Amino acid sequence: MNILAISGSLRKASFNTMLLHEAARVCQSATIEVASIADIPLYNGDIESEEGIPSAVTTLQDRLEQADGLMLASPEYNNGVPGVLKNTIDWLSRPSAKIDIVFARKPLAMMGASMGGFGTVLAQAGWLPTIRTLGLSLWADETPFLVSRAHKAFDEQGQFINDTMQQKLHAYVEGFVTFIATTKC
Ligand SMILES: Cc1cc2nc3c(=O)[nH]c(=O)nc-3n(C[C@H](O)[C@H](O)[C@H](O)COP(=O)(O)O)c2cc1C
Repeated sequence: MNILAISGSLRKASFNTMLLHEAARVCQSATIEVASIADIPLYNGDIESEEGIPSAVTTLQDRLEQADGLMLASPEYNNGVPGVLKNTIDWLSRPSAKIDIVFARKPLAMMGASMGGFGTVLAQAGWLPTIRTLGLSLWADETPFLVSRAHKAFDEQGQFINDTMQQKLHAYVEGFVTFIATTKC
């Protein structure tokens, strides 16, 4: 089983990217591939109509189409969703006929890390209309995996300092793998 993981931060030392790599490390029953969105341009309808869909976007669309599930780690900016990740999701939904191919019924696990005390809880709520519009199958048995005070949560190798968080993450990713398997049946 192959899960595509996308972080909503471009920062080299991003806690959200760290969280996804940590998820990949602790996951035993699936492969989690962390994709970069650094090459995704800003959405511009003129580019779309004059030049078509940029190759960085079609490459990511193809990877998502092939993946059994999608894992998103979203930062929270000003109590909302981060622009770079929303921009990526918007490009991935173009042209609109792609929505059915790329997103519809794709199992989705939502995660997020922030330096604040609520671990992206408002950004998570902000994603819900988009998730519903694209027809993603949100894994909602579990609440999103949230990391608050992220600057204190990881060691220098990007691993959780706290064993309980590591165990929680392990249970979370394995629960998502089970959800994907159940959804496929
Ligand atoms: C423009 C901006 C707005 C932010 N707003 C919030 C916020 O609303 N809530 C919060 O917990 N952290 C907020 N932060 C702090 C982020 O949690 C922090 O920058 C975090 O490290 C971003 O994720 P990353 O490490 O994956 O880049 C904000 C940061 C920026 C740059």
